[in-house]
Amino acid sequence: MAHTLEFAADDLLATHPIEEPLIAGGVRCHGGFLADGTYVSPRTAVRGPAIAAWQEQHRTTFGTEILHAPVETWPPGYPSVEQARFLLRNGVREPIIATLSRIGTVEGFGAMIRFLAPADMQRFFDDDIRGTAMDHLAKGLVEAHARDEAGYGDEAGHDRMWYATRDIAFENPVTHDETALMMQRMGISFGAQPDPDGARQRFMGKRAFEDLDLGLELLISTMLRVLFVEIKAFHTFAWAEELLSDTELVAGEGEAARIVSYIRADETPHVEYLRTALTEMRDRTFIGESGRKYPGTDIIGPMWDASLEESLGLLEDQNRAATVAELEHTLASHPKGADLLAEFHHLEIAGAGA
Ligand SMILES: [Fe+2]
Ligand SMILES: [Fe+2]
Repeated sequence: MAHTLEFAADDLLATHPIEEPLIAGGVRCHGGFLADGTYVSPRTAVRGPAIAAWQEQHRTTFGTEILHAPVETWPPGYPSVEQARFLLRNGVREPIIATLSRIGTVEGFGAMIRFLAPADMQRFFDDDIRGTAMDHLAKGLVEAHARDEAGYGDEAGHDRMWYATRDIAFENPVTHDETALMMQRMGISFGAQPDPDGARQRFMGKRAFEDLDLGLELLISTMLRVLFVEIKAFHTFAWAEELLSDTELVAGEGEAARIVSYIRADETPHVEYLRTALTEMRDRTFIGESGRKYPGTDIIGPMWDASLEESLGLLEDQNRAATVAELEHTLASHPKGADLLAEFHHLEIAGAGA
């Protein structure tokens, strides 16, 4: 039986019938458990199978595989599990608390994507785009993504789920104001509201295809950046699940690690719809503002490469620098700070050689 490839936004936003909600540290989160105890991610009852159907349709129609960058493309997380354990064993918890807070805050920024998808994608393409993921970006897909990251109604999303994880593992270590200060030190604007107009302004100077609609190029650029963050995050999940399940070093009897495993499950549809829609664009023909036509490979190809290079270079360096700065800030007032810092760095060299 041929299945449909057209979905209403409400269907793409529909959640499975949940028997029991997910509560993390007293916070009602999205998603929940079926009668048999299986965790189901929010808004995946239709979205999950829909993405699989679009992928299958694409392979059949175009005979090409869906674009991908495996997690191994990126180096493992920093600090390593061993470095993090070393800090916790020595009672230095702040940098780990800061890292968990930063992940939560950055997850919340993902909601920005809901402002970037143009309602009508067809006008940018020469080919029919009906029955594709890219045609459903503004028809449920980016909204589902935004709700997953930043929550919706009274259900917490990934930002507050990471804070809950931190609060379980380290027993409510920081106030809201302390979190804000920590984020300021790490160069992250805590509590900032999404600013799509500002993003459009800033993007002006970074354009690679002046003949493309500005909003479309910004959308593609954002999809790529977010896709690579999402894939790279699987290193972070592995790190967090290993560290937070160590009941000798963190509180909560493994509960914090379990919440991270639910967040990890929720990320799969994000990776899948993004790489599907980007592949659909790559294999079609773009129409520029001038009316000129461009093969999708000439646009998606270079943008993919440039974004991946930035993800592996600049963004990786920034993350690392923020972590080291926070560690140095903490150790500056520690009586054995210099020794601990030296040993921390030494563990990386030792780990790399192992
Ligand atoms: Fe997320
Ligand atoms: Fe995500």
